[in-house]
Amino acid sequence: MCRWPLLLLWGLLPRAAAGGSGGPFPHRTLLDSEGKYWLSWGPRGGRLAFRLEVRTAGYVGFGFSPTGAMAAADIVVGGVARGRPYLQESTVRVIWAYHHEDVGEAGPKYHESNRGTKSLRLLNPEKTNVLSTAVPYFDLVNQNGFSYPPHVGLSLGTPLDPHYVLLEVHYDNPTYKEGLIDNSGLRLFYTADIRKYDAGVIEAGLWVSLFHTIPPGLPDFRSEGHCTLECLEEALEAEKPSGIHVFAVLLHAHLAGRGIRLRHFRKGEEMRLLAYDDDFDFNFQEFQYLKEEQTILPGDNLITECRYNTKDRARMTWGGLSTRNEMCLSYLLYYPRINLTRCASIPDIMEQLQFIGVKEIYRPVTTWPFIIKSPKQYKNLSFMDAMNKFKWTKKEGLAFNKLVLSLPVNVRCSKTDNAEWSIQGMTALPPDIERPYRAEPLVCGASSTSLHGNARLELLLGFVALGGALSLRSVRP
Ligand SMILES: *[C@@H]1O[C@H](CO)[C@@H](O)[C@H](O)[C@H]1NC(C)=O
Ligand SMILES: *[C@@H]1O[C@H](CO)[C@@H](O)[C@H](O)[C@H]1NC(C)=O
Repeated sequence: MCRWPLLLLWGLLPRAAAGGSGGPFPHRTLLDSEGKYWLSWGPRGGRLAFRLEVRTAGYVGFGFSPTGAMAAADIVVGGVARGRPYLQESTVRVIWAYHHEDVGEAGPKYHESNRGTKSLRLLNPEKTNVLSTAVPYFDLVNQNGFSYPPHVGLSLGTPLDPHYVLLEVHYDNPTYKEGLIDNSGLRLFYTADIRKYDAGVIEAGLWVSLFHTIPPGLPDFRSEGHCTLECLEEALEAEKPSGIHVFAVLLHAHLAGRGIRLRHFRKGEEMRLLAYDDDFDFNFQEFQYLKEEQTILPGDNLITECRYNTKDRARMTWGGLSTRNEMCLSYLLYYPRINLTRCASIPDIMEQLQFIGVKEIYRPVTTWPFIIKSPKQYKNLSFMDAMNKFKWTKKEGLAFNKLVLSLPVNVRCSKTDNAEWSIQGMTALPPDIERPYRAEPLVCGASSTSLHGNARLELLLGFVALGGALSLRSVRP
């Protein structure tokens, strides 16, 4: 991550010049809920340019923030002459504000409720829309539906395909705001013009289970889900020994999630990350296209690595479906399709319980969660209650984290229709990482891979306000 020193130049432009030249921007999104604040962006001559269109006669604010708050954010207010954009490949919280009055002598007036934050991935690779307008579709409606690359499609209608599509929408209105109407959804384009490859999806990571345990009060707990060499080898050897090609990934965790990385290994050597988000935002989850397709071969293994923050929690966090429970998953879109839908793992629970001093449980196990027999302080407690009874200090939490990452895992390796590969249920050890991936250091200011190989970052902000347009230009000196 780089902080770019910026020099901001600005001046009034004729309205027609607002937004600069070079055709429409590939990305455009509404930031507020009243339809007043639009953000567009995309590369312009090797630079990343932004355009704001705001329906206001007063000032306009815009910024880049690691958290969505104003602290440590790089903020631009229309007319301001200094600022330092902060760009990263992970999720960025764009913050916005506007006011119906111009900036006065005493500076901009307080924006009151005309403010907000929205998560975006600004550096996602561009994908041109490859669909012709003649392709039929059915609406289920969303503004930015994901589209498959030109050579891959999702097969429909054969016996091996899904029989129905279910759109599940979860609503949350914590402030009980009234009058909200939702028109979001999916538009699915379909065609009889079959593409070269059928796409498949693999769920990789930690099997969703109470055995995924995260102690309370920790700023940075790490969990790992293994798509093991054994599972990938069996499935790929049987179905596609020449490998499969991953083109997009969705990373998934819940409210305690802070970062997720999908790591890829070949014979002990770590390859480039398949996907990552070091600033995960639960409320902003979407498939990210890989910059280039990556091949997974028999002999490879994957680790989905999640970081959690439980500082504000007093009790254990467990793997589970609720947003207050956790997950650590990645969804890989790939082709050609093979019969592998889940490639996951669960860490051994008995060794986790030994950490808090559990000696014996009641067997045979007849209750869920199962009950502890000894020692006395946990007698007749469920394993969940026992773990909550343990006094988790930061030191204990760290030691527990280290232990869990080293424990043997139970392999989950399943086909469609809940069928299993033979490796399912076996125990495997987490792989030794002999040669971790070393990314080329991203040198700020030197020729680098950021922003399409251009060392200069130019931020072009065209403020389109009622009655005039203001252009802000920031150029790295
Ligand atoms: C996957 O394998 C299972 C069991 O072998 C079989 O029933 C199912 O039809 C297969 N599905 C696909 C998509 O090949
Ligand atoms: C624990 O449970 C067992 C079996 O249900 C029961 O016999 C025993 O009295 C219980 N012990 C305590 C200390 O509650």
